[in-house]
Amino acid sequence: MDKLLVTGNGPLRGAVRISGAKNAALPILCSSILVKGPVTFNNVPQLNDTRTIERLLNRMGITAARTETHRFEIDASTLTSPVADYDLVKTMRASVLVLGPLVARWSEARVSLPGGCAIGQRPVDQHLKGLEALGATVTLDSGYIHAKAPAGGRLKGARIVFDVVTVGGTENILMAATLATGTTIIENAAREPEIVDLANCLIAMGAQISGAGTDTITVVGVENLHSATYRVMSDRIEAGTFACAAAAVGGEVTLLDAPVTSMEAILDKLREAGCTIGVSGQNISISRTGSLKAISTKTAPYPAFPTDMQAQIMAMNVVAEGTAVMTENIFENRMMHVSELTRLGASIEVTGNTAIVHGVKQLKGATVMATDLRASACLVIAGLCASGQTMIDRIYHLDRGYEHIEDKLIGLGATIERIS
Ligand code: UD1
Repeated sequence: MDKLLVTGNGPLRGAVRISGAKNAALPILCSSILVKGPVTFNNVPQLNDTRTIERLLNRMGITAARTETHRFEIDASTLTSPVADYDLVKTMRASVLVLGPLVARWSEARVSLPGGCAIGQRPVDQHLKGLEALGATVTLDSGYIHAKAPAGGRLKGARIVFDVVTVGGTENILMAATLATGTTIIENAAREPEIVDLANCLIAMGAQISGAGTDTITVVGVENLHSATYRVMSDRIEAGTFACAAAAVGGEVTLLDAPVTSMEAILDKLREAGCTIGVSGQNISISRTGSLKAISTKTAPYPAFPTDMQAQIMAMNVVAEGTAVMTENIFENRMMHVSELTRLGASIEVTGNTAIVHGVKQLKGATVMATDLRASACLVIAGLCASGQTMIDRIYHLDRGYEHIEDKLIGLGATIERIS
């Protein structure tokens, strides 16, 4: 199992190109199932998670391959088996995003229940409620979701009000509704930029969608979607992670090809921490030369501060001046990085879903364990701030969601070594 050896050696300087967004690429790759013909997606990041979707599609009989470093060509007309097996779904919960497209296009799906994960229970009840509202019959059997379209084979447009704001639930139902008969109205929809990206991709395939990016999305079902070529948006969480690294360690970093307009909540927090932010076209420069101030955060659905940035901001706060109160409102168990940060010398108290972080003058390198994707990124940032060497174990989490993170950081002057 690979490990990362991080040696703190001062400010980061230079430019880093931001990759395609993992959380947009995953549903977009799944949307290929809706089309009985070839589709091409560009700017798809090279990640273990995109590889998992490729395997999932291949296992269904779909022709899906990475034909260039960042290009996928997929043809779902060869689908033979609308099944997502447990062994793949358990490695990546987002596999459940094949459910909506499968029922919509192939009238039937058997998808393993994802189960809980390190950061919380993460039920999929809203995905299933949405599909049932569209007329599907949903049964749970031997750990699998079995969903069937009504007689005639097409889902039926409906009004769906989600009980909670769910990104994956909104994406699953949005995809399913594109091929339903009649109109679907999704209320209390998630407003994340990745949902807008998915909607734009579906529109390029011929779907009729309005309101993506607001809490009410309207979909007028069409009989077929057609071939298209679509470029995935760039990754606001990866961009935010490099910005946090620059803020925590100091220096000046330019984020090239960043999704500028979707990063307001993150950039506001970095300004509050004492960073200078400059935006020029699709590039963001971030510099921190003065002191770093502790900043309090409360995670909430977009456009508020994202849960996927909580751990990286905490890595900044542990070396900042003052005390920060950080509340996690989306997932019930997303503070596992706290005990690892403490091993590096951080001072943090956790009560329920709130962490009180008292900034310390200096962290000291130690061996730590990555517990989930964003927690891993948090430990890399903390390792860059610490004196001496930090060994991060279980970095397979990092490889699920960050493209060549150590090479990118080395390009900014960091000292990092992958140990196989
Ligand atoms: C997506 C992102 C993930 C991010 C999260 C929140 C992808 C691949 N993953 O995950 O990186 O951290 O959004 O921004 O895009 N919930 C239910 N019932 C459901 C669905 C969700 O109760 O049927 C709850 C969840 O347990 C959680 C909250 O709703 O507490 C938000 O989850 P959701 O937005 O669905 O997250 P994901 O789509 O899994």
